[in-house]
Amino acid sequence: MTKKIILDCDPGHDDAVAILLAAGSPAIDLLGITTIGGNQTLEKVTYNARQVCTIAGLNEIAIHAGCTRPLVQMMENAPDIHGDTGMEIQGYQLPEPTVELAEGHAVDFIIDTIMSHEPGTVTLVPTGPLTNIALAARKEPRIVGRVAEVVLMGGGYHVGNWSAVAEFNIKVDPEAAHIVFNELWPVTMVGLDLTHQALATDEVEAQIKALGTDVADFVVGLFGFFRKAYQDAQGFEHPPVHDPCAVAYLIDPTVVSTQKVPVDIELNGALTTGMTVADFRAPAPADCHTQVAVDLDHARFWELVIDSIKAVS
Ligand code: BDR
Ligand code: CA
Repeated sequence: MTKKIILDCDPGHDDAVAILLAAGSPAIDLLGITTIGGNQTLEKVTYNARQVCTIAGLNEIAIHAGCTRPLVQMMENAPDIHGDTGMEIQGYQLPEPTVELAEGHAVDFIIDTIMSHEPGTVTLVPTGPLTNIALAARKEPRIVGRVAEVVLMGGGYHVGNWSAVAEFNIKVDPEAAHIVFNELWPVTMVGLDLTHQALATDEVEAQIKALGTDVADFVVGLFGFFRKAYQDAQGFEHPPVHDPCAVAYLIDPTVVSTQKVPVDIELNGALTTGMTVADFRAPAPADCHTQVAVDLDHARFWELVIDSIKAVS
């Protein structure tokens, strides 16, 4: 059965791969893409989303722009990882986007889509700061009981990347994350513990390059910039391609193993604001509505990504 999803993202190199994975998978029905200021300004990431859809020929997809900044905090972007445009690339000429932006705010699109579908049929997949999702839950609380699940890229239970203990998507809007993790919908946190296993190795890149399509060249170009950025900024040899891991889990849950644990968001730490505090003391309470991603099947994950790149080419 296909899963209907809304991808709420801030493209972003890995967000771009998440869009391609979702669009190309027969297991996913991509109802729309919503954008959120994060890796770069809302204007830039929205432009990038339109470029990705143009490259992949997703001419009918609804792209709605969302919030420009976090609920409480000042805006923070990640140019050291994603460049000045938010999706800087090596050896590939990005096109002028021909896919238009849809009318209406992302938050209203999210609410309207969930309210107009059968309860339990729409999954939210946020891969940026959680501002749009939190606002949607506050504006129309009935969506919480109607969403199938929230599968998000963000957080981590033993490591951070925007502070010693906090991951970027959570750290830049911790208040929004607090809302999303505390609403009683099922939440799967696909955090850094998992996504640091999703490395775009030389073998992976060679397999994608061998496809010889325009979309494949685009992805190879993304990895070129992303690899150098991760080497310089975070000491990685190969870049962790975070965001498609959340989509992969929905396509095939065996790709990502999970563990049910309560997770809450630190809002007032002297050193720990934005930390996703996961309580591994067993047993997890029977009503625990959060789980964390633990182990990735690396080979199968990249097989799914490559299949989708082929499908949209
Ligand atoms: C997350 O932050 C962004 O840089 C990536 O797109 C990903 O969503 C990783 O911490
Ligand atoms: Ca992202």
